[in-house]
Amino acid sequence: MEKMKLKLLYSDLKPELELIEKELEQAVDSESLLLNDASLHLLQAGGKRIRPVFVLLAGKFGNYDVELLKRVAVPLELIHMASLVHDDVIDDSEIRRGRPTVKSEWNNSVAMYTGDFILARALERITEIESPRIHDILSKTLIEVCRGEIIQIEHKYRLDQSMRDYLRRIKRKTALLISSSCELGALVSGTDEKTAAHLRRFGYFIGMSFQIIDDILDFTASDQELGKPAGSDFIQGNITLPILYARRDPLIYQMLRENLNQDISDEKRLEIVRTIRTSAAVDEAKRMSERYLEKALKELDYLPKGPATKTMRKIAFFIGKRKF
Ligand code: IPE
Ligand code: IPE
Ligand code: MG
Ligand code: MG
Repeated sequence: MEKMKLKLLYSDLKPELELIEKELEQAVDSESLLLNDASLHLLQAGGKRIRPVFVLLAGKFGNYDVELLKRVAVPLELIHMASLVHDDVIDDSEIRRGRPTVKSEWNNSVAMYTGDFILARALERITEIESPRIHDILSKTLIEVCRGEIIQIEHKYRLDQSMRDYLRRIKRKTALLISSSCELGALVSGTDEKTAAHLRRFGYFIGMSFQIIDDILDFTASDQELGKPAGSDFIQGNITLPILYARRDPLIYQMLRENLNQDISDEKRLEIVRTIRTSAAVDEAKRMSERYLEKALKELDYLPKGPATKTMRKIAFFIGKRKF
């Protein structure tokens, strides 16, 4: 339902997105039945395709050419997909996009190589791009995503980590890929440097807001809405923004400390989720997300007014209020 509403916001891009969808399907095609099944399993489960959408929208600020834009949009979505397949191994997640994850439908080894395969397909696609600068941005973004995920492993169960630790981590694991989607869409379309920089910053701020909302939803949405059990982040030891605010209350801190890294019952899980949800932490985290959202919107003010800016603004508002 919610996903439908989001898709309506970018209905103008439908033909281009259909083209990208076809290319994604072709990209994950291989002679191995297993790799095919596992990759298509995730691809066909849907997903918001927000990164290709940002590539296309950014392209509207230059010479809009789908043939050029898809050369970055397809690899970016593939990189995202590969990182999800790997992420679900790291997070030991059973469900993604309402379906069993690759690691749970098959196993960790299959997921490892499926992720690698999808990433390799992204690299193959990237060879079509001639600009070294674009290669450089893509590689650096990928390095940062890896660093973000590794830091997340290092920071697991550390209830005493700082807000800065958290913000730096989500910048790497999420915000930079969205930021690069905007920047690359601009660059392949030949916008001027200033426009590309505003779009890059817009993507970065939106990306931060997006991950913070994702971390809030883990406590506020239902298992069904999330397509996975609420509170999964905490169960897996990932300390996110709502926890960082909630831990300031000594009673909650004690509860978190006692249950962190424990094999807890489903009732306990729901109790923790309820405690966080009804605490002030959720509103505080929302305020942080809104601060990033405002910064993102400010970047749009520097861009020429038009349908693309308008759609970006609408998507930004939607992300701020999304429920899935
Ligand atoms: C999920 O990203 C991982 C995060 C960065 C929060 P999306 O929410 O964009 O995932 P899909 O592609 O729509 O499933
Ligand atoms: C986002 O991290 C995944 C990547 C950026 C690779 P999360 O672990 O928070 O995302 P979900 O909740 O599994 O989608
Ligand atoms: Mg993760
Ligand atoms: Mg995860």
